[in-house]
Amino acid sequence: MASGISFTLNGTDGKARVGVISTPRGEIRTPAFMPVGTAATVKAMMPESVAATGADILLGNTYHLMLRPTAERIDRLGGLHRFMNWEKPILTDSGGFQVMSLAGLRKLTEEGVTFSSHVDGSRHFVSPERSMEIQKLLGSDIVMAFDECPALPATEETVAQSMRMSMRWAQRSRDAFGDRPGHALFGIQQGGVTESLRGESADALRAIEFDGYAIGGLAVGEGQEAMFGVLDYAPDMLPTDKPRYLMGVGKPDDIVGAVKRGVDMMDCVLPSRSGRTGQAWTHRGQVNIKNARHADDPRPLDENCTCPACSKYSRAYLHHVFRSQEMISGMLLTWHNLHYYQELMAGMRAAIAAGRFAAFEADFHAKRAQGDI
Ligand code: GUN
Ligand code: ZN
Repeated sequence: MASGISFTLNGTDGKARVGVISTPRGEIRTPAFMPVGTAATVKAMMPESVAATGADILLGNTYHLMLRPTAERIDRLGGLHRFMNWEKPILTDSGGFQVMSLAGLRKLTEEGVTFSSHVDGSRHFVSPERSMEIQKLLGSDIVMAFDECPALPATEETVAQSMRMSMRWAQRSRDAFGDRPGHALFGIQQGGVTESLRGESADALRAIEFDGYAIGGLAVGEGQEAMFGVLDYAPDMLPTDKPRYLMGVGKPDDIVGAVKRGVDMMDCVLPSRSGRTGQAWTHRGQVNIKNARHADDPRPLDENCTCPACSKYSRAYLHHVFRSQEMISGMLLTWHNLHYYQELMAGMRAAIAAGRFAAFEADFHAKRAQGDI
């Protein structure tokens, strides 16, 4: 990429890919999972702890940060990396998706979106140009084009009109982003679950030329089968020599299925959010730590896990602190979940490099089928 951020594909196994994105702030090993740090923090985690789980990159949100503490304030304070004490790469989402799911009183036009803040009701406007400006003020390493993701279910005509506006916004994002060495701009494919619309969107993005390509508009309630149906063809529509990022996905089995179909990057609030509600993800599937069966259990959450929650505490303790609403409950379970996700990514990277992804996938599903012990 001319941007000073480069992607090296180191191997493939079927459609699965292993590689490295090199940035001035460090390397991102792919397939990569990006923990979500919406409000300049991965909730319940110190940044050094997030790095210790194996994360190479975090996701931040234009929408939340523009409202509080504002992009201008973060810029005055030295940028988002310094503000939140995270020196590695940061990818920022562009805001449109969050406006549609979180803001009140929205008005969408060709120019952009006017909306009310979910924090204090104040009125704001975001356009492709303003989103690029905000992401620049934040100092984001990977900037996302400004797009619109239609709420599903929607008619094919609605999805088509929305996708075509997102492609016009993608061109405006490209124009406004300009030439910023060391920073990358990713386009976002839309088109719902319609193959021809996904193809039209991919063609539009390829013509504009981006440093990476995201697959948007999935994991919005269509279900895993429909999502995999799209992922059976959507990654193939995007350039092979650029990273492919599936936005907002997902559960561990969604992630394995996406990597199998050629996705390189993903993000999701699930490991951090569910950590705060007492849900743990392990090799044997999902564990609800508030369940009474853990109250007297001296064993670790996952005996094969080396995270602090598993190496130093019992299920009984994790159960107790969750039931007592102690802060350490969210801290330990979030750490475990992020550690599990990163270990899953590392396992997939090693398996792809060794040409044994199919065996990895079979083992992943076999362990989960056994259920929690
Ligand atoms: N996060 C999850 N899906 C999407 C999407 O379609 N667009 C954007 N910008 N962010 C997302
Ligand atoms: Zn653990």
